[in-house]
Amino acid sequence: MANKQFDVVVIGGGPGGYVAAIRAAQLGLSTACIESESYADPKGEVRLGGTCLNVGCIPSKALLQSSELFQQASHSFVMHGISTSGVKMDVATMMKRKDNIVGQLTGGIKALFKKNKVTLLPGHGKFAGRDDERWLVDVNGATVEATHVIVATGSKARHLPGIPVDNKLICDNVGALAFDSTPKRLGVIGAGVIGLELGSVWKRLGSEVTILEALPDFLGSADQAVAKEAWKVFTQKQGLDIQLGVKIIKVETGKKGVSVEYELGDEVRTLQCDRLIVSVGRVPHTDGLGAENVGLALNPRGYIGVDANCRTNLPNVWAVGDVVPGPMLAHKSMEEGVMVAECIAGQKGHVNLDTVPWVIYTHPEIAWVGKSEQQLKNEGVEYRVGQIPFAANGRALGQGDTTGFVKMIACARTDRILGVHVIGNNASELIAEAVVAMEFNASSEDIARICHAHPTLSEAMHEASLAVDKRALHF
Ligand code: FAD
Ligand code: NAI
Repeated sequence: MANKQFDVVVIGGGPGGYVAAIRAAQLGLSTACIESESYADPKGEVRLGGTCLNVGCIPSKALLQSSELFQQASHSFVMHGISTSGVKMDVATMMKRKDNIVGQLTGGIKALFKKNKVTLLPGHGKFAGRDDERWLVDVNGATVEATHVIVATGSKARHLPGIPVDNKLICDNVGALAFDSTPKRLGVIGAGVIGLELGSVWKRLGSEVTILEALPDFLGSADQAVAKEAWKVFTQKQGLDIQLGVKIIKVETGKKGVSVEYELGDEVRTLQCDRLIVSVGRVPHTDGLGAENVGLALNPRGYIGVDANCRTNLPNVWAVGDVVPGPMLAHKSMEEGVMVAECIAGQKGHVNLDTVPWVIYTHPEIAWVGKSEQQLKNEGVEYRVGQIPFAANGRALGQGDTTGFVKMIACARTDRILGVHVIGNNASELIAEAVVAMEFNASSEDIARICHAHPTLSEAMHEASLAVDKRALHF
């Protein structure tokens, strides 16, 4: 039987892959997407959406929302005059809600594939060779042929030597999103994005949470003012125990749970906990891809090497998302997917890595785009800063949530916005204005001249832009 032939075959159905497939099909290219059975649904059917929808962005945000509501009902309603007593969290219901959201969204992508006529090929995709002008890709023993291949195989959790992840007692993101009860004591290795988000979830639900971080600085990639504010809120107000500059010596499991021996300065300490989350970063996933069969080049850190348009070293082979260098974020993966599909169709695509926003969905949320003050200092760039606290914002006061600030940094010479950093309620939504502004090379004066609705949190962005020129009106 002849092999199936496609203009485009995408390997991996996460945000990078499924978006690339949909866009390629929209552009009239015959397209297939291969997705392995990593995330099967309860009936054993393959699930699209990759890490993001199955064991990443979406389930973590569902748990953050449930736990935040629990926290508010338990502690914040009272300031509005609403009394509550006996507020309880049923972890099983919270998890069921999360699973339903995941099921709904992953099913939705299958429906989008049908609508856009993308062929889903369930199974493991592997380069098998080249036949004339076409790439041969093996899918569970069957061969498909493709003019173009887009590799979107994503990433997997980095594990540490000697720390066996069983996703029961010692968990990476997969197990950490599926606890069946609130651990009394939770240990976390790594105070990065996952450690802070999932540490927050279980802290709000009553766990004693200790986070062990190797680096001496907290949130080193954020602007220092934001990191300082976040440290104060997380450790002093919320009671997360975050220990910096630790060296993990040994992790053991036993009847009492997990014991973590670590060095802090000259001291050796032991953390005894019921569950441990290991969140020390992610690594590109190219296992079993057959890169070596066709000479697909990986860089020394295991990422697939690409140019600015996500072309690999092989003709008509492209790679997008977590498997290529750059921020490991779903929206960056999706943008790359669109760009590649458009390039294949002969259009011009672009992804501006300088305006990719970062968001940490803790409470307060943390979001930024562009450069931090310390980066600009290191680069010797002269800049002006406008910073406005939410305490000076009427909407924040009305909402009873005035933690944090908006900080805008603009070039001292041209006034072009170089970075915007927000810590506070809804920072994830507020940052969009800054991304648009930076994408269009706007100045702080441009934002200052835009009418912002009153009363809104976005007025803090407006005031920060005025503050760059030392003419804030309400602070
Ligand atoms: P993936 O989503 O990893 O998808 C790759 C897919 O390829 C997988 O489905 C895999 O099964 C499949 N695959 C791999 N190899 C093969 C093969 N050989 N054949 C067939 N299929 C294969 N990012 C955000 O922007 N916002 C967030 O809030 C956020 N929260 C996160 C929370 C957690 C706990 C984690 C772990 C990550 C989070 N991320 C978040 C990161 C985000 O999930 C990733 O950046 C994103 O999923 C990357 O998309 P991708 O398509 O490149 O890869
Ligand atoms: P991370 O890179 O954000 O943080 C890992 C932390 O672990 C770092 O602070 C690092 O210094 C520390 N670490 C590394 N080795 C260590 C060791 N041996 N002992 C103690 N600490 C150690 O990685 P994380 O949290 O695992 O998340 C992975 C990626 O997933 C993120 O970088 C991000 O790209 C993505 N993600 C994005 C989210 C979002 O956008 N809101 C949410 C969660 C994940």
